[in-house]
Amino acid sequence: MPTPASPAPTGSPSRLAVSLGRLRLPNPILVASGTFGYGREMTGFVDLARLGGIIPKTVTPQPRKGNVPWRTVETAAGLLNSIGLDNDGVETFLERQLPFLAGCGAPVIVSIAGGNIGEFVALARRLDGVAGIAAVELNVSCPNVSHGVDLGTDPETCRKVVAGVRAATATPVIAKLTPNVTDIVAVARGAAAGGADAVTLINTLQGMAVDWRRRRPLLGNVVGGLSGPAIKPVALRCVHQVHRGVGIPIIGVGGIMTIDDCLEFFVAGATAVQIGTASFAEPVISGRLLDELPAALAEAGVATVADLVGSLELPAAAGCPSPVPEEPSDGE
Ligand SMILES: Cc1cc2nc3c(=O)[nH]c(=O)nc-3n(C[C@H](O)[C@H](O)[C@H](O)COP(=O)(O)O)c2cc1C
Repeated sequence: MPTPASPAPTGSPSRLAVSLGRLRLPNPILVASGTFGYGREMTGFVDLARLGGIIPKTVTPQPRKGNVPWRTVETAAGLLNSIGLDNDGVETFLERQLPFLAGCGAPVIVSIAGGNIGEFVALARRLDGVAGIAAVELNVSCPNVSHGVDLGTDPETCRKVVAGVRAATATPVIAKLTPNVTDIVAVARGAAAGGADAVTLINTLQGMAVDWRRRRPLLGNVVGGLSGPAIKPVALRCVHQVHRGVGIPIIGVGGIMTIDDCLEFFVAGATAVQIGTASFAEPVISGRLLDELPAALAEAGVATVADLVGSLELPAAAGCPSPVPEEPSDGE
């Protein structure tokens, strides 16, 4: 008589695996686009094969030089960047970067951006069926290129981008959304209606830095995107609202520095997380968080990440009868 299989220990791969729509990942710790190069640069710091996913720098149809310097400025608890999607274009990516990434052992999620719906669709079609691509992430949320944000600020336009891409590829589709909108739930609904398997929340918040003595902005592009710990509360709020309001699988990103941050995102409604700016300050961080994850799940009293997702308990007296607060307080 066969003996029943004994349960896998908490840190075993099967316990850490997560599903986002059609996309199954070995664990929920991913690295965010634009903050991990093309993987190769990070091999001295992180065993890439352990990662839940790698999202390389966004690729565009044609090469882009990006914005004039300065392109990054440190701020209190954060980083401002205005890189401007500097990349060598999709053909060079396929020729020079994807072969290494595809062989590194982690799922590769290719981030793409076009200037209009047709360019997004054409990129997705170009990548369809290419070996080594687990999913595409649609960067409809870059604040640093003209028209970059537009496609991700209007729910109906977002729906059309996602639907067009979805029809052009068999690969799972993730829409990466911007927090620079009044109602991110409406945009996430658009992505869901277009057939997105998941949404990534959030890209950077628009900001700027000023040198008052010279009467000049510090960034060459004047404005840029704020990332790092300063934006974590905004990202958590977005994850919470979209989880309650839409129900689509979510990858949370924004200011994650510790394993407690990761668990906060899971409890708020994210199924996986991406590590961004923190990799600049601590290049080994994604591996460290993977090391710490099993003990954190044990401390939370759960066997799998899925058991934690969206487990946030709202206070009954919070005046929040609907899933998403209709009149969020200003805090003062
Ligand atoms: C220098 C830099 C470059 C970035 N480039 C991209 C990019 O090419 N595509 C993209 O979707 N997001 C890009 N991002 C945004 C990050 O992927 C992430 O969404 C954001 O920084 C919030 O996460 P964090 O606070 O953990 O960094 C970039 C962020 C930084 C700091």
